[in-house]
Amino acid sequence: MDKLITLTLAGTRLDAAPAANSERTRLIYDRLATIYPLSTFFFHSRAHAHAVDAAGIRDGMSVLEVATGSGEMFRRLVARNPNGATIGIDLSPNMAARTQRMARRRFPYARTHCKAVDARHMPFRDDSFDALVCCYLFELLAAEDIELTLREFRRVLRHRGTFALVMIGQNVEFFNQLYKVANRVAPAFWGRQVEHRVPELIQSSEFRILSDRTLRQSGYPSRVLVARK
Ligand SMILES: C[S@@+](CC[C@H](N)C(=O)[O-])C[C@H]1O[C@@H](n2cnc3c(N)ncnc32)[C@H](O)[C@@H]1O
Repeated sequence: MDKLITLTLAGTRLDAAPAANSERTRLIYDRLATIYPLSTFFFHSRAHAHAVDAAGIRDGMSVLEVATGSGEMFRRLVARNPNGATIGIDLSPNMAARTQRMARRRFPYARTHCKAVDARHMPFRDDSFDALVCCYLFELLAAEDIELTLREFRRVLRHRGTFALVMIGQNVEFFNQLYKVANRVAPAFWGRQVEHRVPELIQSSEFRILSDRTLRQSGYPSRVLVARK
């Protein structure tokens, strides 16, 4: 009961700013698939590199990336895991197709597969993956969908599997103010910052947090958490 109350309260605070509408999110990201790599180049690549290291991704693993976007992190994962299996999903069919195409082009012999799938209901068996990586997705999900998605993450990860989560940091006040404006203008694209509340939800979902690091790239703050099932 206590846990339920905590989650409900956390949900209320998370949704002080409106969460994205997933149909609009899919449409927007579908349209941006070709130019989205710029955002990785300028803002996300440092956090991606740290997440791969901190999650201990190595060759031979079975790895799932959730919300691949245009596939920059996905290719980083395949480069680390050329003889394992690297699976990706994204809500946007154009993002998923681009991720698949670029990975196949660069790593024609690796086992890679990327499909348009909603993270809230994933078509994988229980205990399928050694590691799961998810970057900048939770900002776009409603509070109850973050909880649902964390349950899916736990379900598809094997016993003692690792989970790396990258979120937009909330440790830079000026950036937070800008983000609030961005959320009002285009919530389905920007989402809202959730970094402060999510660690509690991760622990409530029976993951143990192993490492936690905040970093910045071109002024854009990110927080990288690694947890174990
Ligand atoms: C901010 S982008 C981040 C992309 C990439 N992970 C990165 O680090 O640059 C968010 C991505 O999440 C995807 N997305 C949004 N809602 C989703 C859902 N319910 N299931 C799977 N992917 C989703 C979007 O289509 C978009 O590609």
